Amino acid sequence: MGTKSLCLLLASVLVAYYVYTPIPENIEERWKLMLINAGFRTVAHVAEFAEWLGLMHYMEVLMMITSIEYTAPISDENVTVTDTKFNNVPARLYIPRKQSSGLKRAVIYIHGGGWCVGGSAMEPYDLLSRWTANKLNAVVISVEYRLAPMYHFPVQFEDVYTIVKFFLQNSVLVQYGVDPNRICISGDSAGGNLAAAVAQQLLDDLEVKVKLKIQALLYPALQTLDLDLPSYKDNENKPILPKSLMVRFWSEYFTTDVSLQEAMASNSHVPAESSHLFRFVNWSSLLPEKFKKDHVYASPIYGSSRLGKKYPGFLDPRAAPLLVDDTKLLGLPVTYVLTCQHDVLRDDGIMYVSRLREVGIEVIHDHIEDAIHGALMFITSPTDLALGHRVANKYIEWLNINL
Ligand SMILES: *[C@@H]1O[C@H](CO)[C@@H](O)[C@H](O)[C@H]1NC(C)=O
Ligand SMILES: *[C@@H]1O[C@H](CO)[C@@H](O)[C@H](O)[C@H]1NC(C)=O
Repeated sequence: MGTKSLCLLLASVLVAYYVYTPIPENIEERWKLMLINAGFRTVAHVAEFAEWLGLMHYMEVLMMITSIEYTAPISDENVTVTDTKFNNVPARLYIPRKQSSGLKRAVIYIHGGGWCVGGSAMEPYDLLSRWTANKLNAVVISVEYRLAPMYHFPVQFEDVYTIVKFFLQNSVLVQYGVDPNRICISGDSAGGNLAAAVAQQLLDDLEVKVKLKIQALLYPALQTLDLDLPSYKDNENKPILPKSLMVRFWSEYFTTDVSLQEAMASNSHVPAESSHLFRFVNWSSLLPEKFKKDHVYASPIYGSSRLGKKYPGFLDPRAAPLLVDDTKLLGLPVTYVLTCQHDVLRDDGIMYVSRLREVGIEVIHDHIEDAIHGALMFITSPTDLALGHRVANKYIEWLNINL
């Protein structure tokens, strides 16, 4: 064998080694997912390298890559699409063209991306909003909140809150022909986090008279306290959201100071003064047996009180909606929760289902056994997966029947 063919063989082995990731048995289109995941890993490595060289912040590299997927607000035969602002917060607005007598339904959608990346203009989000507007003949407002590392908590929360509160005014609903009794807030991942937080905080806002009919939380992030849940352990290196990236997203939501990231990575970031909060995320009592498997519940490891004082946001229910008392859950709207088996955030969603059901809130829980985190991102070519379409259809069908 010549040197050339030896080099070629070596290169192929290296590429194969790089692309190959163990994909759970029950997942379809394994090779396509492997290639997509190799793409994600490459971006992560480029971002790490650029950060190490001091050229760019890690999230800026991710943001640059996701912005390739941005699309202009183009109207089509069914939906009029415009970029606009409500009370100074930007949003992409989808208005169905179909003439209909009577009032329309409305969905306020909050995109994911770890509070750091993504946007309503990203192709999959744009498509999801079009499908929703078209299928439900509903007005869809896709919120463009500000992101980390430029802006930290509570800016993301406040941007979403501002827009929701503005939209829920009767005068605004009349202007858009929206039925005040048929409004939903939805979001995926970090967007599900913001949706859940906003829905909770609205309950205490006496200025808001219109109530949400539904909240739809799609593989949401709901707590900061325990980053060693069974789902974090079982899915530490699954596509497309490894634990290390989730920890980075969480810490970056509050600060760029790496000491919080390091403490979160070892799950020792919560100060002993906040020990009373652990009961709200106690997976030993909140997870059904099938998700506990052979994991053993261990008492929390406490961190320094310095971090908690410096970055109180990570103990704030506006960032971690599971950290509220049961009384704060009463009055929440009918809740749709979608969780994915192979997802570090799986148990966040499942624990919220348990907590809401315990206080009598109506919850519909769709647990997808063969799904990974971020499934809804994979609905546009060339990175579309049958899974993405299946999850999107499931969610939109449910909304259409229940909103
Ligand atoms: C418009 O709606 C019809 C009926 O739902 C659908 O078949 C068609 O593909 C839609 N057009 C676009 C551009 O989405
Ligand atoms: C969590 O629940 C288990 C029982 O299911 C209990 O033994 C443990 O003390 C609880 N821990 C906290 C911090 O609430």
